Amino acid sequence: MDQIVIFDTTLRDGEQSPGCSMNLKEKIEVARCLEKMKVDVIEAGFAISSPGDFESVKTIAGAVKDCSVASLARANVKDIDTAWDAVKEAADPRIHLFIATSPLHMEYKLKMTPEEVLEAASTMTAHAKKYCSNIEFSAEDATRSDWDFLVRVVDAAIRAGATTVNIPDTVGYTTPAEMRELIEYLRKNVPDSDKAIFSVHCHNDLGLATANSLAGVLGGARQIECTVNGLGERAGNTALEEVVMAMRTRPQVYPFSTRIDSTQISRASRTVYNIIGQSAPLNKPIVGRNAFAHEAGIHQHGVLANKQTYEILTPESLGIQTNNIVLGKHSGKHAVEDRLRSLGYNLTKDELLACFEEFKILCDKKKNITDADLEAIAEHRAVSQLEAEENGYKLNWFSVHTSNFTTATCTVSLEKDGEKYEDVCLGDGPIDAAFNAIDKIIRPAEHTFDIYNIHSVSEGKDTLGDVTIKLMSEGKTYTGKGLSTDVIEASITAYIKAVNKLCAATEAKEG
Ligand code: KIV
Ligand code: ZN
Repeated sequence: MDQIVIFDTTLRDGEQSPGCSMNLKEKIEVARCLEKMKVDVIEAGFAISSPGDFESVKTIAGAVKDCSVASLARANVKDIDTAWDAVKEAADPRIHLFIATSPLHMEYKLKMTPEEVLEAASTMTAHAKKYCSNIEFSAEDATRSDWDFLVRVVDAAIRAGATTVNIPDTVGYTTPAEMRELIEYLRKNVPDSDKAIFSVHCHNDLGLATANSLAGVLGGARQIECTVNGLGERAGNTALEEVVMAMRTRPQVYPFSTRIDSTQISRASRTVYNIIGQSAPLNKPIVGRNAFAHEAGIHQHGVLANKQTYEILTPESLGIQTNNIVLGKHSGKHAVEDRLRSLGYNLTKDELLACFEEFKILCDKKKNITDADLEAIAEHRAVSQLEAEENGYKLNWFSVHTSNFTTATCTVSLEKDGEKYEDVCLGDGPIDAAFNAIDKIIRPAEHTFDIYNIHSVSEGKDTLGDVTIKLMSEGKTYTGKGLSTDVIEASITAYIKAVNKLCAATEAKEG
C-alpha cells in the first residue's frame, strides 16, 4: 500500500482561526500529542507573523524528535530566512513557502503579473533550498487558478528544488471529481512531476474537505494537510481523524496507509478542544460524543446482536475505552492509576497522586465515577499544570445567596501570594454576582465574554460540570476551564483562570 504523508497544520492554519489561539505551553502540549499520534509533519506556525509565533516554532522544532517540523513563509527572502531561523534546530526541518496563483489573488492581493509570480515561485524556492533539502511549495488558491499556469508554476518550483508541491483549495471551492482531475492533470503535464510529492490542502466551506482530500489522493497526491478536529479558517480544514479513519476503514476504496497511531485520536481531539475551550459537536464524525451512541431501539437491538450492524469502526481503534468498570469511594489508588493508564494517561507520580486526590474529593459528591469523569479530571489536571506557572489568584471559598424573588449575592474569597482578598457583590443570578465580586477584587482590563459554556461530563444529575470561559480583550482571547459537580464553583474557577491570563497579558504589555 502506498503511504500517505500526514501533514498536520493544527498549530498554524488551525491556530490562526478566530477563538483558537494558544499560548506557547499549549502549543507544546498539542505538538507532543501530534508526535505521539505519529503525524509525519507538524506545521508549527508562521514564524514571521509575530515574535510569539517565531518563539513557538523554534521551541517545537527543538522539542519534537519524531516528526518533521515546518514553518510557513510567504515567497520572499525575509519570510524564508525567518522560517529557517525558527526550524533549523529540528531533527527534520521543512520550509513551507507559498504564493497565490489564481487571477483574483494575483491581481487584487499580490498586485503581481503571472510572470512575476512564476519568477518569485522559482527564485524563492531556490533561496529556501540553499538552507534546507526539505522544501514544500504551495500555490495558494490553486483550485481557482488556470490549470496550465499552475503546471508552469509547479514545474518551476520542482526545478528550483521543491520536494513537496501543495495544491490548496484555499476557499473550499472545489469538488471531489474536480480535485482528482486537477491532481491527475498536474502529474501528467508537469515534466518532472515524479520528483516531488503532490499534496492537497482543503478547506471545508462546502463541507467537502475530507471528500476532496481523499479524491486528491486517488488522483495521485501522497500528502494530506489536515488539522485535529478540522480546526481552521472559516469552516475549517480537512479533519485529520476523518481522512485517516476513512482510509483505514475502506482500504478497498483507498488502498493507502499512514503512520498514524489511531488510538491517540480521541485523546488528541480532547486535548485540542480543552485547550481552545470548545467541545466537539455531539454528532461530529469520529470524535463527537454520539459517534458511538445508539439511541433508536432498532439500532440498539442490532448492536447488541452484532456491533457491526451499525458500527463501522470501533471506539477502541480511536483510543476510547468501553470498559465500564465503575470506580467509587472504595477504589484504591492502584485501581485509579491502572484505569488512568489504560485510558492512555502516562502521568508522573505527582500527577497521578494529584488526580487521585481529586478523585477522592469527587467520590464524596458522586457515587459512581465513570471513565469520562476520570478523563475530565486528568485533562483538567494537565490544563492546570500548563497554567500553574501563571501564579495568579486562586479560589479560597465562596458563598452565594440566591432565590427567584431576591437579587443574588455572592461573597468570594481569593488568595494570591499568601494574601487573602474578600469581597461581596450583587448580580443578575449567582454566577453574575460571583463574577462581579471577582472583578471587584482583581480589577481586570476591559473585556467581553466570548464563550461561556457548561457541559456535563457524563450522565446523571450528579455529573461533573465542565465550564469553559473565553474572555475577549483587545482582539485576544483568554481561556479558563473549571470542573466541579457544582457548576457555580466550576464557573468561578474558570473565570478566575481566564482573568489571571488576561492580567498576565496586561502586565506583560505594561512592562
Ligand atoms: O489555505 C491555504 O491556501 C493555505 C496555504 C498557505 C497553504 O493555508
Ligand atoms: Zn489553509
